Amino acid sequence: MTAVETTTPDAVYEGSSVELRDLSLAYGDVAVVRDVSLTVAPGTTTCVIGPSGSGKSTLLRGINRLHDPASGDVQVAGRSVLGDKPDDLRLRIGMVFQHFNLFPDHTALENVALAPWKVKGLSKAEARRLAEERLREVGLGERMDHRPRDLSGGQQQRVAIARALAMRPEVMLFDEATSALDPELVKGVLRLMAELCERGMTMVVVTHEMGFARKVADQVVFMDEGEVVESGTPEQIFDHPRSARLQTFLSEVL
Ligand SMILES: Nc1ncnc2c1ncn2[C@@H]1O[C@H](COP(=O)(O)OP(=O)(O)OP(=O)(O)O)[C@@H](O)[C@H]1O
Ligand SMILES: [Mg+2]
Repeated sequence: MTAVETTTPDAVYEGSSVELRDLSLAYGDVAVVRDVSLTVAPGTTTCVIGPSGSGKSTLLRGINRLHDPASGDVQVAGRSVLGDKPDDLRLRIGMVFQHFNLFPDHTALENVALAPWKVKGLSKAEARRLAEERLREVGLGERMDHRPRDLSGGQQQRVAIARALAMRPEVMLFDEATSALDPELVKGVLRLMAELCERGMTMVVVTHEMGFARKVADQVVFMDEGEVVESGTPEQIFDHPRSARLQTFLSEVL
């Protein structure tokens, strides 16, 4: 690890709880998430695993209302968010995708400062200061003036994480945040995610990184065909899978 990649583990987060109650999500008439109930305690990390097409991304999108449910409820900090304006909710719930979606013509600093300035109404100077803090925290203190094309994939993903953190979210959602990265860059981003977890963020992480899930998750959720088939501690899920579907899945990925 180089000095540049060293993070400043000073910020403490106050993650909120997330509760899904009989949540169903559909595309048109096709149900792709069925009756999912899930409790994520404040400051804990839940990893969602399962085969391609099992509804993992759709479930995440249901939490921050990129996709509105067909039925059921989503609660954050003990209160239903289905009546909230989606834009307001997304200030409270940060999301990081496989592809970083950074603005190519903006520097790392500008990418992180933009929403606090434009959406949260901070002054430009305040937004820059906040962005500097967050970028230092993800280990990019030396690269704030670089544009995305002059950063590695792992660094770009850390800018995307800093951008989400700059909104002071109560919950962070990650959808395959490391799958587009070269193998040597995966570790740094996973380490950063593990740090956020240690600092009290509530996280729901869709991942193919079973080592990460085993090490960092408080809870692992296995989805198949739109349903939660099994959930439990990493030990329960990885060492003592009960269902044939999970046993088959693990035999294919481990
Ligand atoms: N925009 C869409 N319109 C219609 N069906 C969709 C749409 N997006 C996803 N689906 C379908 O919904 C189901 C669940 O998809 P989803 O993307 O949630 O799966 P996933 O578990 O995230 O898969 P992967 O591991 O490949 O990312 C799939 O059958 C998929 O084909
Ligand atoms: Mg997906």
